[in-house]
Amino acid sequence: MSDVLRLDGGGDTLLVGVREGRPSIDYWGPALPNGSVADPRLLERAVSHGMLDRGEVFSLFPESGWGFTATPALQVSRPDGRFITQMTSQGVRQFAGGIELALADNRAGIETTIRIDMDASTGVVGFRTTLRNADPEPLRVDWISPVALSAPDGDILGFGGRWAREFSRHRFRLASGLWASEARTGRTSHHAPPFLVAGEAGFDEHHGEVLGLHLAWSGDHRMLVERLRDGRMQVQAGELFWPGEIILGTNETCETPTLYAARASDGLNGLSARLHPFVRDQILGDRLRRKPRPVHFNTWEAVYFRHDLVELKALADRAAEAGAERFVLDDGWFRGRNDDTAALGDWTPDPAKYPDGLTPLIDHVRGLGLEFGLWVEPEMANADSDLLRAHPDWILGEPGRVQPLGRGQYVLDLTRPEVSENLFAQLDTLLAANAIGYLKWDMNRDLTHPASGGRPASHAQTRAVYALIDRLRAAHPGVEIESCASGGGRADYEILRRTDRIWTSDCNDPIERQSIQQAFSIFFPPEVMGAHVGPADSHTTARTATLDLRAMTALLGHMGIEADVRAFSPEEFEALRAAINQHKRLRPLLHSGRLVRQTPADPGAIAFAVVGEGEALASLAQVETPRIGAAAPFRVVGLEADVTYEVRLINPPRRPRASMKQIPALARGETLQATGQWIGQVGLPMPILRAGEIAVFHLTRNPA
Ligand code: DGJ
Repeated sequence: MSDVLRLDGGGDTLLVGVREGRPSIDYWGPALPNGSVADPRLLERAVSHGMLDRGEVFSLFPESGWGFTATPALQVSRPDGRFITQMTSQGVRQFAGGIELALADNRAGIETTIRIDMDASTGVVGFRTTLRNADPEPLRVDWISPVALSAPDGDILGFGGRWAREFSRHRFRLASGLWASEARTGRTSHHAPPFLVAGEAGFDEHHGEVLGLHLAWSGDHRMLVERLRDGRMQVQAGELFWPGEIILGTNETCETPTLYAARASDGLNGLSARLHPFVRDQILGDRLRRKPRPVHFNTWEAVYFRHDLVELKALADRAAEAGAERFVLDDGWFRGRNDDTAALGDWTPDPAKYPDGLTPLIDHVRGLGLEFGLWVEPEMANADSDLLRAHPDWILGEPGRVQPLGRGQYVLDLTRPEVSENLFAQLDTLLAANAIGYLKWDMNRDLTHPASGGRPASHAQTRAVYALIDRLRAAHPGVEIESCASGGGRADYEILRRTDRIWTSDCNDPIERQSIQQAFSIFFPPEVMGAHVGPADSHTTARTATLDLRAMTALLGHMGIEADVRAFSPEEFEALRAAINQHKRLRPLLHSGRLVRQTPADPGAIAFAVVGEGEALASLAQVETPRIGAAAPFRVVGLEADVTYEVRLINPPRRPRASMKQIPALARGETLQATGQWIGQVGLPMPILRAGEIAVFHLTRNPA
């Protein structure tokens, strides 16, 4: 039997061929003419001596049993010792925008269904696989990747990081062997988020064939790139199961997370041009479109655990004057919470700090015209909490074992219905009793003992977290939720399906933020990227930054303030207010436009543009001392070539003579006109920026 199934989307064609009972991707690239049929001999490969007679049998779902000697997409076993699988196609089903491939191995007693959906407008493809145990014996599943994809042979761009320095990139070539990135921390993680870009050698922001992968999963996971013995490269991604975690009884199924993949011929920007609209339409489900993202004021770096009603009201007053539209009361508000050693689990206001509950503060905040938001960390409990005193057995782990703690806290076992029920009831009561429009949902501990009822339960815990959020959302559809895990430790498309923004990083230092935001922006659009103006002295890096750099860096995302604004000098406060005003004016563009990362001539600079219809914003931040003496023009690529723009520098240097004796017109506060073509080719004259300075240009279609 031989079938070729075709999907089209975003100007791409994907052909899935089924030959000898096995599916494979025959073609994935720019759209093929309608009706084009490839001669199957085009897909033949020579086989060298020293290998199996059929060579590496690499398919969409490669199995050792068919002669694939690298990591197979499926690793299972049975108590009676059976572990070999040889699945063959049982039929295909094509429907609008997707394909379902059914495979089975009767002798192994397993069935799988691979579902492939291609988004018609962006070409982003989602792969998801379901495995069913059709045998009387239990089936242990050690590994299942929804599919294995062949990667362009060249460079791999991986993502790593740490607390307060998320989304750092590393790039490498894999000459041979296997590279894997794993998270065993019960969250998407700071150090190994399940994202990857594989591309042709030398790909960059603007050039090169690239394949971007994003596993939509917020728990333990593994992503691998492997050089096959015949020179090809495969990539896989799936959940990381703890030993014996997934054992399927007869007729039981398990479903993989969705592996999203997109390709582009024009580098990382081409990838983002597909992924951002996909996230906007399909992941966020259109719920943020045309809904202005309110500017936040967050209390964390302003007061930490020191909650004093009078002080908080004063902060809210000042935040409102600065232009904030939502006040988020961070950690420290609940019973007994004076530092990070106690109280998680008891979600009622601390009577010492809030003798009349949260209402007086909420009324005050809302009276100022701001929405009220609240920090919670529902999955956790401290030993010193009423919750754990009453239910010491409600935590994940093995009874009697001392587990390493993080921030002194335990992870609650949400797989137990009574625990999830209790948390739902506490949060539901909180939301029903108070006018809360927003929850910042935090998760601050690595999960190292994910055991429930004597068995590993990391998978079930992640699903239970999703279920709890889903239930709360259904009960309180008007409440928005932010995903946070010690900053950006839980940033992925599956959590984003049920949340409205991501707290990108606890680092508010704009120098670090520029590159954190740069890497974050490959997969996520700006409106979900929490970005705050912090204090002048960064609490995480001890670096000092000007208000201009802090504000112009936060302006590019979902903007907020996270500092004691009462301590700002009048000059600084005024500049903050002006920047927030700018953000509000520009927000329709920033939160719907096409983000194009730029490549400035100076390697010590980071630059972005957001391009809308007849309007664009372009920023260039000098994060290191310039290596080029006479600032090279800023070539902004991605603009509308034929449009003549009026260009204005929205933040002209306050003391231009400090770095220049000849000052270009834009830096003198004048406006210029140029076409998109000119600006992309020749560039905008730049002021000389010193390390820590930024230039932000606003471009509007010239009506003349
Ligand atoms: C970690 C978060 O990332 C911070 O923004 C803050 O909410 C603290 N937790 C509070 O404990």
